[in-house]
Amino acid sequence: MKLTKEEQEILNGSQGETKAKILRTLVEFGDVFGADKLVPVTHDGHLVTSFGISLIKPLFRIMDEIIDAGIKAEKPFTVDPRPIDYDNVKCTILDKLIFSKIMYGQQKRYEEQLRKIGLKTKDSFTCTCYMDEVGNIPKYGDVLTWAESSAVVYANSVIGARCNRNSGMIDLFGAIMGKVPYFGLLTDEGRQANWIIEVKTTKKPEAQILGSAIGLKVMEDVPYVKGLDKFLGTELNDDVKSYLKDFGAATASNGAVGLYHIENLTPEAVNYGEQLINKNAKVYVIDDEELERVYKSYPVLWKNKEAKPERAFIGCPHLSYNQLVNWANNIIAGLQETGRKKVALTTILTTSPQVRQKFEQTDLYKQLVKTGAKVSSICPLMYTNNPIAGKKPILTSSNKLRTYSKARYLKDEDILNVIVGKEVK
Ligand code: F3S
Repeated sequence: MKLTKEEQEILNGSQGETKAKILRTLVEFGDVFGADKLVPVTHDGHLVTSFGISLIKPLFRIMDEIIDAGIKAEKPFTVDPRPIDYDNVKCTILDKLIFSKIMYGQQKRYEEQLRKIGLKTKDSFTCTCYMDEVGNIPKYGDVLTWAESSAVVYANSVIGARCNRNSGMIDLFGAIMGKVPYFGLLTDEGRQANWIIEVKTTKKPEAQILGSAIGLKVMEDVPYVKGLDKFLGTELNDDVKSYLKDFGAATASNGAVGLYHIENLTPEAVNYGEQLINKNAKVYVIDDEELERVYKSYPVLWKNKEAKPERAFIGCPHLSYNQLVNWANNIIAGLQETGRKKVALTTILTTSPQVRQKFEQTDLYKQLVKTGAKVSSICPLMYTNNPIAGKKPILTSSNKLRTYSKARYLKDEDILNVIVGKEVK
């Protein structure tokens, strides 16, 4: 990799041993991917590691070394959601013991480390940092050092920023140095599509299943999606952005997509159209049958497949304000229909702290609380991904949560029916 004089000097220790090590890590990371230079990060950071899991001792040691060296991030950062919320996501005494002593015993220490290095605010814990309420919103063309896969694919695709699918620590090191290696999705070539997806469904596809189908097919490639504008329109309004958030998270978790283009809708597709498609791009046609095939292929990983679900998590990635309002309205209306006062199982809607605070000011929130449903800013995956909670029959309408845990996926409509006490086939 070709380095500037200043970068070379930092590598040689001009700004201390710790910065030299951090820069060397970025350079070696870039070398692996054939990067020929480092480029400046032009927007605030977002870190994927939000949990103080006791097992990752090297992380805490490195954080201490950074703090002891007096280093602060060039770019302040937001972080993924917290793993625990005892107020809204109730735990048994045993769960609590495992969470606080074994799983997330270092949470307090880690959050303090984050604060010292450059955490934006004490409430900067959400995977949807790009929401208006949260305010970590890049511009078109910005170069980022993010790693949360759902946020990376959103920033690349819906905003037109440029970010690779980095790993934890690389996101932090990029924020500290204000530089990232130039390769992959940062380059024009890396943003060309090698798949054409033809959406030929008879109705608007469920975002989470369409994203899953595409992710499973194209893996880490860039898809150019045709036919979706017929259902979504050509304007990136709040509802469309929420749809694309969930769609993108499914492409990124069921496959490893870091960027997609939606014809006539996402900014680069609007600017460059079919010029974004590589000559030998493959074609994948998605119709109603294909979506159903993908949906039916999801295994049920509960120990007892017929178990009565105990808990439902909605909002992975975190719900947008519009989505939260829709879910609240639908739950309240559904309960009126079934004549129930309370939700039929523990129901947790997850959203950013900022959206939650805004929602808590509304009458709708008070009505929702009466149904027994909870609003939390937890990461449901961090809650479910452990031996105790993992054994419980949990439902989700998130394809990401389905993929990384034993939670069972249901379509939005079906999970709503369970929540309000209707029969589900
Ligand atoms: Fe966000 Fe946690 Fe899901 S980080 S995307 S809520 S797994």
